[in-house]
Amino acid sequence: MPDAPVITIDGPSGAGKGTIAHRLAETLGWHFLDSGALYRVTGQACLIEGVAWDNHAGVTDIARTLDVSFTSAPGGEVLVAYKGRDVSRAIRTEEGGRGASTVAAIPSVRTALLQRQREFAKPPGLVADGRDMGTVVFPQAELKIFLTATASERAERRYKQLIAKGESVSLPRLLEDIRERDARDSSREVSPLVPAEDAIVIDSSNLSIPDVFAQVMLKVKEKGLIQA
Ligand code: C5P
Repeated sequence: MPDAPVITIDGPSGAGKGTIAHRLAETLGWHFLDSGALYRVTGQACLIEGVAWDNHAGVTDIARTLDVSFTSAPGGEVLVAYKGRDVSRAIRTEEGGRGASTVAAIPSVRTALLQRQREFAKPPGLVADGRDMGTVVFPQAELKIFLTATASERAERRYKQLIAKGESVSLPRLLEDIRERDARDSSREVSPLVPAEDAIVIDSSNLSIPDVFAQVMLKVKEKGLIQA
């Protein structure tokens, strides 16, 4: 188990986890684990290697030996590479999300990625973003946040993001995708998406990013993780 302090930020996609977790890691000067990216790269690697997402043994082999690297580009962007090939964009598509959540439901894939995730916990500390960071990967974490928002609010946020990128999307379709993914993530047998018993639950539906960040920072201070 890691000897560095860990803050976990779990919750469904679109609740603002990524933004909050990134900002927190930056503010504290701690390491950052985007665990969703590991599942996304696993799904993408299957496409590249010609392994079907429902081939459990094949996907598990891919996860076990996943040659993935994260590098920070100037401007804060994180580049994700598989076998040295940039997959940053490909893993963020809707297909990338589907692949991630399909392979993430395979128990042996989760086991294969467990140790790799724990290796991110190094001094001075780690902010870990995901679904099961506080329940399974870092159950001893100093602070556990579960950040959520209603499905319709998350669909609306995603819709605005995609429209801003010039993509044509349908809001009802997005809402349906989000509901389907939520159902898959919360009902799977291993590591379902549930708050840890000792997690602090924040509903961001009616909160701005600075409001959520302020609430999280308050908890960080209360836990003595930084000077008040
Ligand atoms: O967080 P992100 O949207 O990138 O995650 C993509 C998918 O990976 C999620 O829908 C979920 O199925 C899976 N995931 C997971 N456990 C994590 C992180 C992500 O099962 N810790």
